[in-house]
Amino acid sequence: MDKYETHEYDVVVIGAGGAGLRAAIESSAAGVKTALVCKSLLGKAHTVMAEGGVAASLASADTRDNWETHYRDTIKGGKYLNQWRMAQLHAQESPDRVRELQEWGAVFDRTREGGINQRNFGGHTYPRLAHVGDRTGLEIIRTLQDRGVHQGIDVYMECTIRTILKDPDGHVSGCLGYWRESGRFVVFHAKSIVLATGGIGRCWDITSNSWEYTADGHALALWAGAELIDSEFVQFHPTGMVWPPSVKGTLITEGVRGEGGVLKNIDGERFMFDNIPEMFQGEYAETEEEATRWVEAVVADRRPDARRPPELLTRDVVARAIRREVRAGRGSPHGGVFLDIASKRSAEAIKRKLPSMYHQFKELANVDITTDPMEVGPTCHYTMGGVRVDPESQETRVPGMFAAGEVAGGMHGANRLGGNSLSDLLVFGKRAGEFAARHAADRADLTAINETEVEERAAAMLEPFGREGGENPYTVHEDLRNMMQDKVGIVRTEEDLVSAIEAIASLRTRAAGVKVGGNIQYNPGWHLALDLDNMLDISEAVARSALMRTESRGAHTREDFPDSDEQTWGQQNLVTCQTESGVEVQVESLPEMPPELKELIKD
Ligand code: FUM
Repeated sequence: MDKYETHEYDVVVIGAGGAGLRAAIESSAAGVKTALVCKSLLGKAHTVMAEGGVAASLASADTRDNWETHYRDTIKGGKYLNQWRMAQLHAQESPDRVRELQEWGAVFDRTREGGINQRNFGGHTYPRLAHVGDRTGLEIIRTLQDRGVHQGIDVYMECTIRTILKDPDGHVSGCLGYWRESGRFVVFHAKSIVLATGGIGRCWDITSNSWEYTADGHALALWAGAELIDSEFVQFHPTGMVWPPSVKGTLITEGVRGEGGVLKNIDGERFMFDNIPEMFQGEYAETEEEATRWVEAVVADRRPDARRPPELLTRDVVARAIRREVRAGRGSPHGGVFLDIASKRSAEAIKRKLPSMYHQFKELANVDITTDPMEVGPTCHYTMGGVRVDPESQETRVPGMFAAGEVAGGMHGANRLGGNSLSDLLVFGKRAGEFAARHAADRADLTAINETEVEERAAAMLEPFGREGGENPYTVHEDLRNMMQDKVGIVRTEEDLVSAIEAIASLRTRAAGVKVGGNIQYNPGWHLALDLDNMLDISEAVARSALMRTESRGAHTREDFPDSDEQTWGQQNLVTCQTESGVEVQVESLPEMPPELKELIKD
């Protein structure tokens, strides 16, 4: 490949959030030549938006915790659709991954006894989230970055990968991308590739995700012949900012509720007491008095003798309840509900435990959360859907291609518990790096890059420059985001989903004709024109899967099928693949959970 800048590696990791960094550390520690390629600057990843903590049964805040309870909570939170082996590995290995971070320099908050402090979060039976105030993701990225850079990983920043290249045997041979700054193409020749590109949130209008989360890895995998699983399950975090408009969707950590924050409607009612689903009956406080006892115990650092407040129900439940209040006309002035921590904790505790929230509201909304409530509403935060992988190795069905973190599916089933994303990316980032390195070491040589394919792909990427009179890519993106928000949001109907699929087809036609001005040098319009392809394919995967699942489960709520249908759907995953005719969805049975694990979740 003389024509394009080319780099040769054993393992190329795409994406430098927690999963990518952890994979690259493991791969380079195994002695194979490893590159980390990221679209943004190193250190800027959605991992930092997992603010409240990393879930692991360290049992330092409550000695009753263990991996079995974490497993049970995760499966119950995922409404029994999780890939059982991934959930088991995750629950078993996350404590070691957190301790390892500590050894590498992460400065976690401490218990009085000096252990790693853990806070409460939705759906977790015990305080399980190891945290650094409300900047846990940031601290994890910082720690991994330090470790990786000093270990000698080669980092390529501001580089977007557009195509996974394969050899004639169907094995990965590398990938093709472009430098965002110069616009020039670059080829990475590799024996193994790890996708760690994060999520798809920029397909929705209100999202906690920043500009990078345009479904790149999901699409790269699909186009390369891998399958997606569970695409219909998109998580709307219950608490995003609703005002001012410029920051709508910005995350407010669940840690606020973990530290005792309560949700109220405009009438001052704690509506979550009326929203405890049957499957969680008996596990949550049913009266204000009991919930208050729980908070008092947490404040005093005592083991509570009361059940958790219903604000700590799983995210799917809380997001739906907030939506219901707003729709019923009981919302706050800017279309959310109130989240109040001021009346539960001292100003000193709020500033110490939730420093980012304090500053975020002060600076962005001119609200002092130590005296006033926040206005909050659901924001698209995470996709449970992702690339289907082997649970042990994280390899996809494309030989040599691995996936870890949010881009991989199966682990969280129909709904993810807060804090389980950080532990997921540590556990499976490590595994992906280890197995990708092993795979590379077992292969004698790099296989040839198909130069014709590279030429064709590069020419296709330049097409938006040559068009006459096409539309601006930003208008197509805006229409996609509004449409997905409206029709493929928290609550869905057949009519909306059918119309969403039709809308995607017409947006696809518009996207194929977009025109960009200027040249290839730092040209965000061009980058977006290319990203539209990813977002349209993955939006279609979400909409088609959501249409096919004729029940409500976890993050997928069908107004026309309001109940879970155990008989038909309880053990069924939806798998998306690409065929000649486009994106297709098939129904498949979940792998059978072994009896000893069934025993853990039997109630
Ligand atoms: O609310 C939060 O701090 C987010 C955590 C997560 O998504 O895991």
